[in-house]
Amino acid sequence: MTGDRTGIQDDVSTAPHDVSTTPHDAPADPEALRERAHTALLAARERTALLTSCVEDPELTAQHSPLMSPLVWDLAHIGNQEEQWLLRAVGGRDALRPEIDSLYDAFEHPRAARPSLPLLAPDEARRYAADVRGRALDVLRSTPFHGSRLTDAGFAFGMIAQHEQQHDETMLITHQLRAGSPALTAPDPEPAPPFTGPAEVLVPGGPFRMGTTTEPWALDNERPAHRQVVPPFFLDTTPVTNAAYRRFIDAGGYDDPRWWDERGWDTVRRDKLTAPLFWRREAGQWLRRRFGHIEPVPDDEPVLHVSWYEADAYARWAGRRLPTEAEWEKAARHHPGEDRSTRYPWGDADPTPDRANLGQRHLRPAPAGSYPQGASPLGIRQLIGDVWEWTASDFLPYPGFVAFPYPEYSAVFFGDDYKVLRGGAFSVDAVACRGTFRNWDHPVRRQIFSGFRTARDLTAAETAAGLA
Ligand code: AVJ
Ligand code: FE
Repeated sequence: MTGDRTGIQDDVSTAPHDVSTTPHDAPADPEALRERAHTALLAARERTALLTSCVEDPELTAQHSPLMSPLVWDLAHIGNQEEQWLLRAVGGRDALRPEIDSLYDAFEHPRAARPSLPLLAPDEARRYAADVRGRALDVLRSTPFHGSRLTDAGFAFGMIAQHEQQHDETMLITHQLRAGSPALTAPDPEPAPPFTGPAEVLVPGGPFRMGTTTEPWALDNERPAHRQVVPPFFLDTTPVTNAAYRRFIDAGGYDDPRWWDERGWDTVRRDKLTAPLFWRREAGQWLRRRFGHIEPVPDDEPVLHVSWYEADAYARWAGRRLPTEAEWEKAARHHPGEDRSTRYPWGDADPTPDRANLGQRHLRPAPAGSYPQGASPLGIRQLIGDVWEWTASDFLPYPGFVAFPYPEYSAVFFGDDYKVLRGGAFSVDAVACRGTFRNWDHPVRRQIFSGFRTARDLTAAETAAGLA
């Protein structure tokens, strides 16, 4: 840490162009971080309990989709990861049940095979996770937050809270895929007046600082901070809406190979795709299934449950393209003319309900143009929360990447099999969401809470006119 007061300020780099430091409201001292870790662990467990108690036990052991694990697998896997990292790696304790490790190793058993494993029954899984948690809180109380990379600033505890929240999001996807009557309820977001601002915003060209070195609980793939040069480009002010996406459908978008990546076109034909997942047409009206309810597709909401191929095809049809990951992060974090990148579009302060739709507070994205308090310095809305945004980029390591604490978190996924998604969704907790956070998935995936916004380069005339 180069002379910052708290030790947890944002990135301090030695690169000549990378001069700024960015204070934020993460707690400054180890005891505040310990408190933050405690709160984050409890919040994650509360959400896990909700997601695994709102249906009967047979629904926990059933497989609702071959794409997903039975919910009871996620539950015990959450406990097992916590045991491995907080009890064994940090606390130096012996394994509680070494014989179950392999059942809950995500790399040993593909999701489709998990229902036939001798998994812990729902009550056993609950007891195991609770037992681990009780011991993990003892370890949390007695562990110094310095002296090893795993425990510096409470990293392992933050990592495990994020891991549980990520599986909570996975379980929410399972709930969305599940047939049958609704199990979850939440108030809808506030209605919003139609967005009347500009449809796109110019993001000036030039370098910015991408990634982070000192955000205490940033995961390995977000590190290290590095200088990245981004040419000027235009970015949509809001995510693409259902109404806009329907114009693509109505224009025959799913029938025209011109718009599609070749592999995407193959999936359109093989799977007979005609619309986002969970949509269906009845008597000329588009309906969608959402957590067990059937409702008309709302015009003003960001489109949800589209694959990367669908996002890419829409963008090409619209004469545009997906933003690269660097473009997305610059739009979300960089303050033009100030040479600083903040944790979020609005600055360094933690997310609040008036800034972003996060944490399963609602079970849907808010209307496009919502959350003016969460806008970026250039006025771009909803970069954080609402829907995950597909980017044009493959999931690759940053220069100087070091796998930590285990290569199976990120490193084994690097390459062109996965595309990066940014910004989080209504399904993501704030502990696992920030301007540097990177998610990834296969480009065919659409059960995830994915949407997108589009970008474009400057025209020759705009460049000649000296924009940027
Ligand atoms: C970062 C969401 C792609 O769910 O596969 C959970 C997170 N890693 N357990 C996933 C994760 C290990 C991961 N994603
Ligand atoms: Fe996991």
